[in-house]
Amino acid sequence: MIPLLSLLLAASCGASVPTDGLVFDASSGKAGSIELPTGKTVNYTAYEKLYFVTDVEDPTYQYMNVYVPEGATQTTPIFLRTYVGGYMASEATAPQAGDATGRALAEGYVVAIPGSRGRNSKVGDTWTGRAPAAILDLKAAIRYLRHFDKQMPGDAERIITDGTSAGGAMSALMGATGNYPDYEPLLDAMGAAKERDDVFASICFCPIIDLEHADMAYEWLFQDTDSRLAGSEEQQKVSAELASQFPAYLAGLNLHKADGTPLTGDNFLDYIKELLIASAQKAKNAGADISADLGFKFNSEARGPFAAPLNGGMPGGPGGNRPMMRMGGGRVGEYITDLDMPAYLNYVVSTQPLKGVPSFDSQGVLGSRASGENEEFGDSTGSSVSFTEYGAAANGVVLTDEIRRNVILMNPMIFVGNPKATNAPHWYVRHGARDRDTSFPVPVAFATKLENAGLDVDFLLAWNRPHSGDYALDEVFDWIAQITGR
Ligand code: DHB
Repeated sequence: MIPLLSLLLAASCGASVPTDGLVFDASSGKAGSIELPTGKTVNYTAYEKLYFVTDVEDPTYQYMNVYVPEGATQTTPIFLRTYVGGYMASEATAPQAGDATGRALAEGYVVAIPGSRGRNSKVGDTWTGRAPAAILDLKAAIRYLRHFDKQMPGDAERIITDGTSAGGAMSALMGATGNYPDYEPLLDAMGAAKERDDVFASICFCPIIDLEHADMAYEWLFQDTDSRLAGSEEQQKVSAELASQFPAYLAGLNLHKADGTPLTGDNFLDYIKELLIASAQKAKNAGADISADLGFKFNSEARGPFAAPLNGGMPGGPGGNRPMMRMGGGRVGEYITDLDMPAYLNYVVSTQPLKGVPSFDSQGVLGSRASGENEEFGDSTGSSVSFTEYGAAANGVVLTDEIRRNVILMNPMIFVGNPKATNAPHWYVRHGARDRDTSFPVPVAFATKLENAGLDVDFLLAWNRPHSGDYALDEVFDWIAQITGR
């Protein structure tokens, strides 16, 4: 129940906390505008503080703002951006000129920005946003858009979600868990609209997902880097134990490459290597200087009159059709032919220190403090808890049924290809090629699972990107135009 004081406060701020069902008043829109970095100004109608549940527990977060640009109609797709970061609460904001929300308005899309509770939200003494609260709020927001679809411009059958990091995880969850029955009683208890909550497309930048397997994946990838080898004997022991669990998990996923080859612990690193080479080659073709110092090998051996012309036949070095050579930069040849993975991983960890051992379920293991994820799975008393078998065993505790349930409800991997879920048909997934907030196997397995489920997936380990999102917006909005036929 909402505390009276919060209700009064919210009411005094012009909000309409629902007291008798969900409300949307089409005449309540306010005119506004946003100026983009390009100098273009977009005029819009703003509908703000749209509470998306009837039993509001936390009035700071459980509402959404919607912005309708001039010219939008009932058939305009809706771009839904979550600003969740760090699994923390996220208050609904106005659109930002410099990110995908401003760009979406400039492209004529309706923009929805829902708030959501998170691991740090609190009303009085009650922590309101522990798992799975954030995804419940976001699903309730989607249901609200469907509930008032006819009254509001924009097409709730074409919602495109977007988020970064923990927000990328939320976007992935919105995309993967559509209409899954286990969320239903929880949404009912909040007073969410009785509507479907599947979406049309999901854009996930560096999603921090599969939290219960993220530690094993992290150590499997990084255990032999200089950074991990410089750790204590105890740290190396834990790293090796976690790493050794990853191949069995991977095998259980039954993933395969596009050509049908099963992916196992024996060939998964080579698969990641192929993806990194493809990413670097794409960047190289666009003019980026890819350095051999990072571990890349090039086709620099081609010589003589019958060698394929390098650089598309354009003059290379002195004398024309020769391999490009740069002193110092180490850029050679037109094609990348191989990558020394140990060298590349050492490069990645040199750009930003690795997280500790373990990185995600760290509480009480090797004396480490609770991580944000340990807090996320805690309860309304503000506790933080172990959420993996490994962490629980190290602490001599058992995972309760509730923790196990919440871990599942927060993991989009589980719902991809699940017959009881309606997965979004379109996916755009990006993870930076030097992002170490979670390890490459996590987004790679996720994207592969989406592909194996027959969904439309645009996946890239984006070249030279650290942990970040809403980049390459020309490309993002070309993709959106293509999937929406605009
Ligand atoms: C985020 C980053 C992390 O490294 C993590 O473990 C969880 C969330 C984030 O930026 O949202």
